[in-house]
Amino acid sequence: MKRRFWMCLAALATPIGARAENPPETFAKHVVVAQEPNAARVGRDVLRSGGNAVDAAVATAFALAVTHPAAGNLGGGGFLVAYQADRNQVVTFDFREVAPKGSNARMYLGPAGRPLPHHRAGARAAGVPGTVPGLALAHAKCGRADWLDLVRPAARLAREGFPVSAPLARSLNAQLFDRRPALAPGADADAGRDDLGPGPDRLADFPESVAVFRKADGTPWRAGDRLVQLDLAGTLDRIGKYGAEEIQRGRTADLIARYSAEHGGLIARDDLAAYRARERPAVHVTYRGFDVYGMGPPSSGGIVLAEALNILEHFDLKADGPRHPRTLHRVAEALRRGFFTRATAIADPDVVAVPVARLTSKAYADELARTITERATPSASLAPFPIDDAEGEETTHLSTIDAAGNAVALTYTLEEGFGSKAVVAGAGFLLNNEMGDFNIVPGRTDTAGRIGTAANLIAPGKRMLSSQTPTLVLKDGRARLVTGSPGGRTIPSTTLWVVLNVLEFGLSPRESVDAPRTHHPWFPDVLSLEGPNWPDATREALRGRGHTVRTGGIQGDAHTIVVDLAAGTRHGVADRRRNGAASGD
Ligand code: DON
Repeated sequence: MKRRFWMCLAALATPIGARAENPPETFAKHVVVAQEPNAARVGRDVLRSGGNAVDAAVATAFALAVTHPAAGNLGGGGFLVAYQADRNQVVTFDFREVAPKGSNARMYLGPAGRPLPHHRAGARAAGVPGTVPGLALAHAKCGRADWLDLVRPAARLAREGFPVSAPLARSLNAQLFDRRPALAPGADADAGRDDLGPGPDRLADFPESVAVFRKADGTPWRAGDRLVQLDLAGTLDRIGKYGAEEIQRGRTADLIARYSAEHGGLIARDDLAAYRARERPAVHVTYRGFDVYGMGPPSSGGIVLAEALNILEHFDLKADGPRHPRTLHRVAEALRRGFFTRATAIADPDVVAVPVARLTSKAYADELARTITERATPSASLAPFPIDDAEGEETTHLSTIDAAGNAVALTYTLEEGFGSKAVVAGAGFLLNNEMGDFNIVPGRTDTAGRIGTAANLIAPGKRMLSSQTPTLVLKDGRARLVTGSPGGRTIPSTTLWVVLNVLEFGLSPRESVDAPRTHHPWFPDVLSLEGPNWPDATREALRGRGHTVRTGGIQGDAHTIVVDLAAGTRHGVADRRRNGAASGD
């Protein structure tokens, strides 16, 4: 839905290069890169006091739940990919939300088969949250610091408050005061979602959310005002004391279940108690001698990235360079095929058999690469079933590395900015609206990008398909690149560009993150170019190859670490598209 996309842009987008000062990016020992500076500093302090990269990621994630409430969360879910240098081993953790046991495949459809608004906002939009169990599992398996020390800084930020940044003031004000912006033409980052018209879809529509996020005097937020969140501080205190038990069986579980029951939601105490974060096998491919590790199902991110890299290894992209129309064409064709795989073959691996080994094999990519010609492949021609005529500030990624070379890529989300917009009364945090990542209209796959394939239909206890792509690249057992991004379906495309910019094109760390990106989601069959600064000749050349070309808004927010393996230095590159920060020593 276009309106949502532009709300997000209006709320948080900072033009590339808009920051006057250039903070340090090169560090000798360790660094945390995240979307919000207070949270990045929390992670750095954990590293300073002897915590490892996983400890730093966990502490940063808890802090972001306070300082970046649009996406940092306790009430959502995500994925964490970690490199354990002493064991030369990559481990991945899946803490994706699951559908409550009272759910069913048609639960968001009205009588006419049209989606109902409550798949987008309010308690009924929420899946069972996974973030706290996920962070606890990662910490138990890979952490070194005391759990309480990882949660306490976040509790302090919530209790004492922190100065609201200009971007946070803007996004809160947009949620609390702005009239809904009119549809802007041409934006399709949320392709495949339905415009449901007016309905509760802002913090302002939920009294518990207003109570938490409105300024005491009711006036709009200004940069420098203090945001204090006392209920959240209390919840974090209890999580510090009781761990994930607190959100699964403790007082917080009671609060979630009560709020849900009173507001038409489905999350019951049983659902919270039954939730399990999972350790999963990493997706692994090689790309020109580098080892690339990503997240397997239920995220599509690792597979789409792997498939695209395997295909692109067939071509000498470097000879043409990153902006050449032939490179853009080849990347689009690789993504088109990767996103077709996403739409048809990837879902919760506990429910659906996903042939990960085959999809990420060189042999499969060889077959696919042979189907790429000099012209755009019509997307419909890939599908063996009929296609009917016709996802801003949401999600956040952080990267950490410690002095021993352990590294973490962590992406987590509430789905849309501020998730369901509904704060759990008494607990002080927002619930996700991740249920919309299921295919909510069974059977309807259309040229606008709606997907109705069977693998990702709602079923009780099932995880919804994701595009999150936290990624680690190693060279000879040493971390070379840590990256990932928000951006819904654009996430694998953004991550692919960062990987290619570093590994294929040899751009500097800063250039690799700053460089404009592209996206092709299979459907809509449109190649988006980030930003307006592409030469007309490039657009014409791509149209000449048969692509429908569109100017997209900012694409992603890839807080990235690039390691100079010769010097050992860590480049912490905050993506300047929004408001990131690197903090290290
Ligand atoms: O898991 C996913 O793929 C989505 N829920 C992520 C949503 C997102 O990144 C929205 N964006 N900025």
